Amino acid sequence: MRYLIRPLKEQDIPAIIEGETKAFGRSLGFDLIYSDLHLNPYAHYLVLEINKKVNGYIGLWITPDGADVINFYVDKEYQGRGFGKKLLKFAIDLCTMSKVKQISLEVRENNEVAIALYEKMGFKFSHKRERYYSDNTDALVMIKELDV
Ligand SMILES: CC(C)(COP(=O)(O)OP(=O)(O)OC[C@H]1O[C@@H](n2cnc3c(N)ncnc32)[C@H](O)[C@@H]1OP(=O)(O)O)[C@@H](O)C(=O)NCCC(=O)NCCS
Repeated sequence: MRYLIRPLKEQDIPAIIEGETKAFGRSLGFDLIYSDLHLNPYAHYLVLEINKKVNGYIGLWITPDGADVINFYVDKEYQGRGFGKKLLKFAIDLCTMSKVKQISLEVRENNEVAIALYEKMGFKFSHKRERYYSDNTDALVMIKELDV
């Protein structure tokens, strides 16, 4: 199995929308991803390509004040094989190189797999955002401090 992690290209957007919709039931949508790609200097989207197909991605906004994870998934057929960890590590390394002090993200409070991964990668619970998601599930805000 050959894989690589690389920056998103415009032609990847349809595959990302399909993958996000499968993973979350909805997508950030073409317009947001397209404008982030072409107009937002703070946006960084990293694609996981396995056997020349897009099978996941992580999207981040990295500003001088800190980084935020916008979205993150690995296609179901490739989950549990270490790709999520690789994508997240790549994103953390990018933030370290960008010399930001912290990375934050929101995760559904019942998303045990993602929470376990974030804890393993050094993220710590910060606070809750109540009824953050459209189905009223609370979000946990998790933060990783970086040594800069
Ligand atoms: C969260 C997600 C990106 C993780 O990707 P992945 O490729 O499955 O993760 P990995 O295989 O790298 O596993 C990393 C860690 O996650 C946890 N994990 C993975 N699969 C798990 C499972 N079935 N049960 C419990 N924990 C699990 C483990 O802690 C694992 O670390 P370990 O291998 O050292 O035990 C993936 O499950 C996914 O896309 N989920 C749906 C979308 C989503 O929830 N995104 C996050 C939004 S905040």
